[in-house]
Amino acid sequence: MPERMLPGTADAAFAANEEPLYAPVPQPAFQQVVSTRYQRREVLLRSMGVALAAVFGGLSRSEPTLAAGAIAADGVAPAAAPNAALDVPTSRLGFGAVPASNADGITVPAGYRAQVLLPWGEPICGDYPAFAINNTAAEQAQQMGSHHDGMHFFPLQGSSTDGLLVMNHEYAESRFLHAAAAGLKLNVFDVPLRADGSRDPEQVLKEIHAHGVSVAHVRRDERGAWQLVRGARNRRITAATPMRFSGPLRGDPRLRTAWSPEGTHGRGTLNNCAHGVTPWGTYLACEENWRYYFVRDAGPAPASLTRYGVEPLSGWRWHLAAANAGPDADQFARFDASSRGASAGEDFRNEPHAFGWVVEIDPFDPNSVPVKRTHLGRFAHEGVIFAPAVEGRPVVLYSGDDSRFEYIYKFVSARPFHAATADGALLDEGTLYAARFDNNGQGEWLALVPGQNGLSAANGFGSVPDVLLNSRGAADLAGATPMDRPEWGAVDPGDGQVYFSLTKNERRTGEQAQGPNPRAANEFGQIVRWQETGGDHSASTFTWELFLLAGDEPNGRGLQGKPLTADSILANPDGLWFDADRRLWIQTDIPDGNLNTKGWSALGNNALLAADPETGEVRRFLTGPRGAEITGCVGTPDQTTLFVNIQHPGASTAAKAFAAGRWDSHWPGPSSTLPRSATVVITREDGGKIGA
Ligand code: FEO
Ligand code: CA
Ligand code: CA
Ligand code: CA
Repeated sequence: MPERMLPGTADAAFAANEEPLYAPVPQPAFQQVVSTRYQRREVLLRSMGVALAAVFGGLSRSEPTLAAGAIAADGVAPAAAPNAALDVPTSRLGFGAVPASNADGITVPAGYRAQVLLPWGEPICGDYPAFAINNTAAEQAQQMGSHHDGMHFFPLQGSSTDGLLVMNHEYAESRFLHAAAAGLKLNVFDVPLRADGSRDPEQVLKEIHAHGVSVAHVRRDERGAWQLVRGARNRRITAATPMRFSGPLRGDPRLRTAWSPEGTHGRGTLNNCAHGVTPWGTYLACEENWRYYFVRDAGPAPASLTRYGVEPLSGWRWHLAAANAGPDADQFARFDASSRGASAGEDFRNEPHAFGWVVEIDPFDPNSVPVKRTHLGRFAHEGVIFAPAVEGRPVVLYSGDDSRFEYIYKFVSARPFHAATADGALLDEGTLYAARFDNNGQGEWLALVPGQNGLSAANGFGSVPDVLLNSRGAADLAGATPMDRPEWGAVDPGDGQVYFSLTKNERRTGEQAQGPNPRAANEFGQIVRWQETGGDHSASTFTWELFLLAGDEPNGRGLQGKPLTADSILANPDGLWFDADRRLWIQTDIPDGNLNTKGWSALGNNALLAADPETGEVRRFLTGPRGAEITGCVGTPDQTTLFVNIQHPGASTAAKAFAAGRWDSHWPGPSSTLPRSATVVITREDGGKIGA
């Protein structure tokens, strides 16, 4: 999802305060800037005595030329004719590249099949209410949420055909969620308002229920098709589900609200983008752009709000339903963080402090209370990536803060991992670090601990809770490196290198273009990787290099600066996942307003690509429908099934076209229907490993 997610129906004040969601970029000037900066960076690196090859390390190797697969029509279909070049010796990538596509469907390589599973609105629990555009808020709470994002397959008894598919629902597109929105002139993040400027409580509650997480029991049948298994394992968690806090902030006065005067509990999880999977088999949902749900008093506010962009204007305007909600007003009023009561225990001034965390969910216990693990820091968490757990060693995880010029963090547990006893309590004690990337290819982890790295009571960081509540402010003082919007990460199961997507940052200036963020006006993004010193994930130093600079053919570069080709060009890398054979699966999120325009024209719709971490080979594996991003990629243990999420098809529809019913996408079809986020299940006709 774009960082600036600003629902803004005709709110002049809001518009005046914020730049447009997608500033138009004239093509020639843009390309010139990017390529100039790329050259400038080479010069910079050379002048520092650093060969470009050192930044783009690894081996170079020519890409095999492989025939492309077919474009599916509406919905998904098995792709084209057999491809004689499928077997590429010594390559991890054994499939034929699919071409960039702007079709409203899914493309997969020859020999592969794709099946749609669990679209938004599919009933999964309770009374299993059938999907319809006029479903109520209560029905939505028993159905798949919207905007599928990070996802994991938890096998049952180690099975690769029977398990729990757990996924985030990052947000909802109001105009496609409500029957009453039909015919209105609404843009992608606009919300329908009543004539008096308030919001309809039933609509807002439906939006609240379309957010959160789904746990869905799925099984492959004898014919190879995957189905939902109805039963008690299935669960919806929403933006209203009660949760508890653990770690240093639990019970902190700054978490007290009228609903939890002790500051120990909160309601719901918001804007869950990517996810994490713990070594003890639980699911972590990460809270990313939660700030747009809140409004606060004008005037001075604590850094725990201002450093996070909580403003006197709300994007989602959920609080505006309170006036129409009678005794239920509190569930909406909590999104207004104004000080109204005599103390924090009498209002919701602290409600924004209940968000920006990582939430642990036990998918195997449908009655478990989700836990917000506060020691992992508070920011716009994209996801959480664990280093492989080692018996007797600390647990280590990485997490990116997806905003422009924000940081990459690492958490190292205080207590060692023991497989027999490990649980979420390991995440409640430890040290949070932020990364500094030096231009010479070295890096250091800066402990965010009072008394270290410039943090003290005098500057607001006298305690661990102070540091965690305003992790961004602590990392500012410590001198962490501002990055180009850190998205997902992944750890190479072969050599332990950590990869992170830096999706874009069009505001980076020439002076700021350096290190792992080498391009000014960075519209395409890049992928950085690093090796912890001594291969020890708890080390305090590392060495880094760029794995690729995304872009079209003039701008995209792979390892050692080798140009990307028609089969490998990509932009705005977001999701990353390594399979057990060390294929790095890269999912793209070109903003829907940029798709198939200007500098993105050659790139087509968003795509899933696979890369070989040793050779740097990159090859496009799947293309998505119009307006959608590709996310959530994860496989079964035997690697014969790959699950991929298609998020926000049709989001590129302009307001006028929406009003006229001319949507950019009807995926997954048939052609007259609403676009719906959904999971796609990829298998091979010969039953083999995906990508091999
Ligand atoms: Fe929700 Fe960082 O994308
Ligand atoms: Ca997303
Ligand atoms: Ca993104
Ligand atoms: Ca993302």
